[in-house]
Amino acid sequence: MLYIGSDHGGFSLKEYLKSYFEKNNIVFEDLGVYTQESFDYPIIAEKLCCEVIKDQNNKGILICGTGIGVCIAANKVKGIRAALCSDTYTSEMSRKHNNANVLCMGGRVLGNDKGVDIVKSFLSTDFEGGRHLRRVDQIIKIER
Ligand code: RB5
Repeated sequence: MLYIGSDHGGFSLKEYLKSYFEKNNIVFEDLGVYTQESFDYPIIAEKLCCEVIKDQNNKGILICGTGIGVCIAANKVKGIRAALCSDTYTSEMSRKHNNANVLCMGGRVLGNDKGVDIVKSFLSTDFEGGRHLRRVDQIIKIER
């Protein structure tokens, strides 16, 4: 399952991405927020990450104003590899090299079209494994 969540700073980009998913028959679950009212980003980051870790095929998209807060919070959850991306090169590499399972973006940093491009590259790129698996395993070791 693909989960998406944001605070108020990421709400508008989240809504835009939802319309992109709907138009392209991409199945997703919106975990909130559901209004523009101020909301603390660690809460939505934890909620989304707790869903993502339930299945290794799950992925998440988290958006706050800069993407920084949700990314810091997400990476505190065991099993989460969250990547803050502001271009398609980093989103592609976050999958190929880091096996990122959560994409973080800044709703006040990116335009809607750039956001869609970043999401497209994140969702369409696979982990390369090999030497990168060794490195990801070293990250997992730090968690233990
Ligand atoms: C909220 O104003 C803002 O601080 C939040 O969206 C995010 O940018 C935090 O990193």
